[in-house]
Amino acid sequence: MAIVLVTRHLPEGALDPLSTHEVRVRTDDSPYSHSELVQAVADVDGIVCVLTDRVDAEVFAAAPRLRIVGNVAVGLDNVDMVAARAADVRVVNTPGILDETTADLAFALILAASRRCSEAERDLRAGRWRGWGLLDHLGLDVHGATLGLAGYGRIAHAVARRASGFDMTVLHWSRRDTGEPGYVDSLDDLLVRSDVVSLHVPLTESTRHLIGARELALLGPDSVLVNTARGAVVDEAALADALERGLIFAAGVDVYSDEPRVSPALLHAPHLMLLPHIGSASLATRRRMALTVTSAMAKALAGT
Ligand code: GLV
Repeated sequence: MAIVLVTRHLPEGALDPLSTHEVRVRTDDSPYSHSELVQAVADVDGIVCVLTDRVDAEVFAAAPRLRIVGNVAVGLDNVDMVAARAADVRVVNTPGILDETTADLAFALILAASRRCSEAERDLRAGRWRGWGLLDHLGLDVHGATLGLAGYGRIAHAVARRASGFDMTVLHWSRRDTGEPGYVDSLDDLLVRSDVVSLHVPLTESTRHLIGARELALLGPDSVLVNTARGAVVDEAALADALERGLIFAAGVDVYSDEPRVSPALLHAPHLMLLPHIGSASLATRRRMALTVTSAMAKALAGT
């Protein structure tokens, strides 16, 4: 029987594959601090964690029995993969499980940011709506616009499929030539040619602040930026400034560089829809993500 630490509560039934092992879950659903995590792993064979857990060399050093880490997320930027390899620990995640659900949310942000839905709702709830106005809450049309996808993995493909239903022209950029229609070989070119840009790159050293002041200026005053990837892909101070100065029209953001902290500059910027990192948060998808990880872990620990 192996010992598995599960850092957060999982959807109902997701622990079933691990029923023959000792599973340790905290009674409350509060996140482990990094030092609590280091202390909690001394005798565990597996860790089921989430993207807010930093699983680094210190964690591996504190867990001599550890064989597998299951990250209930597709992004792996919270796991030090070099340290995992050095410690001979396998890492599994959830590729392919959350693409459609995250693409739904990216598209919701494309629509909501372009049409200023968040601001319009805030005005209504705050009693500022004085009745239908010809010039009120004017936004940008999504149908017929050009969508630029930065990164062209599974989620970006799923966003592109949705865009075709809105008669959008779809361009994409990625570091490697995809050979697919709509490929643009420079990010600058994508930014200049697109009305809406949606980010779908993983967070790595080369994508940190991929979108900064210079790139936002290239987008232009009638453009919309959507980020459902990772917060640090965008320079948040530059984004807030670009919105304040009208250098871009609007933005929709689901991810932040220092979650759950959201910078005051973003909280106060105009034409900005902010969501609390809910890209994959549908009942069915979160359940499938957790089950994928616990099933892979049960397989890896079989015979223990
Ligand atoms: C969500 O952001 C994920 O990486 O799964």
